[in-house]
Amino acid sequence: MKIDHIAIAVDDLSGALETWRSLYGVEPETVEEIPTEKLTEAMLPFGDSYVQLLHATDPASTIAKFVEKRGPGLHHIALRVPDVEAAMKSVAEGGGRLLDETPRIGGGGHRVAFVHPKSTAGVLIELVENAE
Ligand code: CO
Repeated sequence: MKIDHIAIAVDDLSGALETWRSLYGVEPETVEEIPTEKLTEAMLPFGDSYVQLLHATDPASTIAKFVEKRGPGLHHIALRVPDVEAAMKSVAEGGGRLLDETPRIGGGGHRVAFVHPKSTAGVLIELVENAE
Protein backbone atom coordinates (compact mmCIF):
# COMPACT_ATOMS: atom_id res chain seq x y z
CA MET A 1 0.00 0.00 0.00
CA LYS A 2 0.95 3.61 -0.35
CA ILE A 3 -0.70 6.98 0.16
CA ASP A 4 -2.77 7.69 -2.95
CA HIS A 5 -3.97 11.11 -1.90
CA ILE A 6 -4.69 13.41 0.98
CA ALA A 7 -7.99 15.20 0.49
CA ILE A 8 -8.74 18.73 1.62
CA ALA A 9 -12.24 20.20 1.51
CA VAL A 10 -12.24 23.79 0.23
CA ASP A 11 -14.91 26.45 -0.12
CA ASP A 12 -13.21 28.26 -3.02
CA LEU A 13 -11.60 25.94 -5.59
CA SER A 14 -9.98 28.55 -7.85
CA GLY A 15 -8.64 30.38 -4.78
CA ALA A 16 -7.25 27.13 -3.36
CA LEU A 17 -5.65 26.22 -6.72
CA GLU A 18 -4.02 29.65 -6.82
CA THR A 19 -2.71 29.19 -3.26
CA TRP A 20 -1.14 25.80 -4.04
CA ARG A 21 0.29 27.26 -7.28
CA SER A 22 1.86 30.28 -5.61
CA LEU A 23 3.05 28.52 -2.43
CA TYR A 24 4.26 25.21 -3.88
CA GLY A 25 4.46 25.76 -7.64
CA VAL A 26 2.07 22.91 -8.35
CA GLU A 27 -0.54 22.75 -11.12
CA PRO A 28 -3.49 20.35 -11.07
CA GLU A 29 -2.99 17.21 -13.15
CA THR A 30 -6.76 16.81 -13.48
CA VAL A 31 -9.85 18.75 -12.45
CA GLU A 32 -12.86 16.47 -12.62
CA GLU A 33 -16.50 16.92 -11.76
CA ILE A 34 -18.01 13.86 -10.04
CA PRO A 35 -21.80 14.31 -10.38
CA THR A 36 -22.62 11.24 -8.24
CA GLU A 37 -20.74 12.82 -5.30
CA LYS A 38 -21.86 16.38 -6.11
CA LEU A 39 -18.31 17.67 -6.10
CA THR A 40 -15.34 18.74 -8.18
CA GLU A 41 -11.94 17.28 -7.40
CA ALA A 42 -8.58 18.70 -8.39
CA MET A 43 -5.55 16.41 -8.19
CA LEU A 44 -2.23 18.11 -7.39
CA PRO A 45 0.68 15.74 -8.05
CA PHE A 46 3.43 15.27 -5.46
CA GLY A 47 5.65 12.48 -6.70
CA ASP A 48 3.58 9.33 -6.73
CA SER A 49 0.86 10.79 -4.48
CA TYR A 50 -1.60 13.64 -4.71
CA VAL A 51 -3.15 16.39 -2.70
CA GLN A 52 -6.81 16.31 -3.69
CA LEU A 53 -8.90 19.46 -3.36
CA LEU A 54 -12.62 18.78 -2.97
CA HIS A 55 -15.22 21.42 -3.73
CA ALA A 56 -18.97 20.93 -3.41
CA THR A 57 -21.09 21.57 -6.51
CA ASP A 58 -24.37 21.29 -4.59
CA PRO A 59 -25.47 22.28 -1.06
CA ALA A 60 -26.57 18.65 -0.52
CA SER A 61 -23.01 17.39 -1.08
CA THR A 62 -21.26 15.78 1.90
CA ILE A 63 -18.41 18.22 1.21
CA ALA A 64 -20.77 21.20 1.53
CA LYS A 65 -22.01 19.84 4.86
CA PHE A 66 -18.45 19.18 6.05
CA VAL A 67 -17.31 22.74 5.20
CA GLU A 68 -20.44 24.24 6.73
CA LYS A 69 -19.92 22.35 9.98
CA ARG A 70 -16.13 22.41 10.37
CA GLY A 71 -14.81 24.86 7.80
CA PRO A 72 -12.32 23.99 5.06
CA GLY A 73 -9.70 21.43 6.05
CA LEU A 74 -8.43 17.87 6.00
CA HIS A 75 -11.23 15.59 4.82
CA HIS A 76 -9.71 12.13 4.30
CA ILE A 77 -6.56 10.11 3.61
CA ALA A 78 -6.67 7.62 0.74
CA LEU A 79 -4.66 4.41 0.75
CA ARG A 80 -3.86 2.82 -2.61
CA VAL A 81 -4.55 -0.91 -2.43
CA PRO A 82 -4.14 -3.67 -5.02
CA ASP A 83 -7.62 -5.10 -4.39
CA VAL A 84 -10.33 -2.98 -2.77
CA GLU A 85 -12.55 -5.94 -1.84
CA ALA A 86 -9.65 -7.69 -0.10
CA ALA A 87 -8.81 -4.46 1.75
CA MET A 88 -12.47 -4.06 2.82
CA LYS A 89 -12.48 -7.65 4.10
CA SER A 90 -9.28 -7.00 6.05
CA VAL A 91 -10.79 -3.86 7.65
CA ALA A 92 -14.00 -5.69 8.59
CA GLU A 93 -12.12 -8.68 10.00
CA GLY A 94 -9.87 -6.33 11.98
CA GLY A 95 -12.91 -4.78 13.65
CA GLY A 96 -13.10 -1.63 11.51
CA ARG A 97 -16.37 -0.14 10.37
CA LEU A 98 -16.91 0.31 6.63
CA LEU A 99 -19.16 3.04 5.24
CA ASP A 100 -19.62 1.14 1.97
CA GLU A 101 -20.93 -2.40 1.64
CA THR A 102 -19.67 -2.63 -1.94
CA PRO A 103 -17.04 -0.54 -3.75
CA ARG A 104 -18.20 2.64 -5.51
CA ILE A 105 -16.61 4.29 -8.54
CA GLY A 106 -14.59 7.36 -7.60
CA GLY A 107 -12.61 9.93 -9.55
CA GLY A 108 -10.49 8.57 -12.39
CA GLY A 109 -12.76 5.52 -12.58
CA HIS A 110 -11.09 3.95 -9.54
CA ARG A 111 -13.02 1.57 -7.32
CA VAL A 112 -13.11 2.97 -3.80
CA ALA A 113 -14.62 2.32 -0.36
CA PHE A 114 -14.61 4.39 2.82
CA VAL A 115 -13.81 3.39 6.39
CA HIS A 116 -15.67 5.18 9.19
CA PRO A 117 -13.55 7.87 10.91
CA LYS A 118 -14.40 6.34 14.30
CA SER A 119 -12.22 3.37 13.31
CA THR A 120 -9.11 5.55 12.94
CA ALA A 121 -9.05 8.35 15.54
CA GLY A 122 -11.48 10.60 13.72
CA VAL A 123 -9.82 10.41 10.30
CA LEU A 124 -11.91 9.24 7.35
CA ILE A 125 -9.96 6.66 5.31
CA GLU A 126 -10.58 5.88 1.65
CA LEU A 127 -9.39 2.64 0.08
CA VAL A 128 -8.54 3.15 -3.60
CA GLU A 129 -7.96 0.37 -6.08
CA ASN A 130 -5.93 1.76 -8.94
CA ALA A 131 -7.81 1.44 -12.24
CA GLU A 132 -4.57 0.84 -14.19
CO1 CO B 1 -10.46 10.69 -2.13
